[in-house]
Amino acid sequence: MLIELKNLYRTYRSPDGANSVEALKGVNLHIDQGEYLSITGASGSGKSTLMNILGLLDTPDSGSYYFNGTDITELSDKEISHIRNRSIGFIFQSFNLIPSLTTLENVALPLEYRGMSKSERMERAENALAAVGLSSRLTHKPCELSGGQQQRVSIARAIASNPPVILADEPCGNLDSKSGGEIMDMLKKLNKNGRTVILITHDSNAARQADRILQVEDGRVR
Ligand SMILES: Nc1ncnc2c1ncn2[C@@H]1O[C@H](COP(=O)(O)OP(=O)(O)OP(=O)(O)O)[C@@H](O)[C@H]1O
Ligand SMILES: [Mg+2]
Repeated sequence: MLIELKNLYRTYRSPDGANSVEALKGVNLHIDQGEYLSITGASGSGKSTLMNILGLLDTPDSGSYYFNGTDITELSDKEISHIRNRSIGFIFQSFNLIPSLTTLENVALPLEYRGMSKSERMERAENALAAVGLSSRLTHKPCELSGGQQQRVSIARAIASNPPVILADEPCGNLDSKSGGEIMDMLKKLNKNGRTVILITHDSNAARQADRILQVEDGRVR
């Protein structure tokens, strides 16, 4: 088993304590290596909160999270970042590209944190961009690309370090149906190539592309 969540809780509290929202209320979940899983649910049900925890961007208040057999809740922030950088590629709805960097630089940047030489970073970034059909756009800035192309850059960025897990939160949310379909095809291919893919989406058609669909309802997984 790749991921196991046991009785996970996450409550957001405002600094003055006036507002508190229980976003996750006892989530149990397991994900196998190589699985293509989609997570759906209404707005505000807790999908992004769950994704942030699954992606090691946030930690739960209580419960346990086993990633590859290690209980993440026992690790330091530094150890958690190390696992995140090596294991997980992220694709976000809003692309999250750096506007001042070129396509190639955006994809190469996260590889720096892995201590790769410049020549290796460039080679990996070029290969990842070729895999998403963007070899002709290496020196363009994000604002010079279409939305679908920007999302393909972010996919290249997610796969350049060859992480075993891809986490995508509404990757087609800002795209027309044709570009969205291309992104969905790419996710499917990444899964066929052996990666574990976790897709968070409102879109029930997109969700059906996965092998398994989980429904989040008011902070709980059904
Ligand atoms: N930083 C935060 N501070 C306080 N409350 C938050 C915060 N982030 C989310 N929430 C609350 O937690 C609940 C779950 O939010 P979350 O973003 O996980 O929902 P979601 O399922 O991703 O929704 P959407 O489909 O609209 O993206 C919501 O009630 C939301 O208001
Ligand atoms: Mg969300």
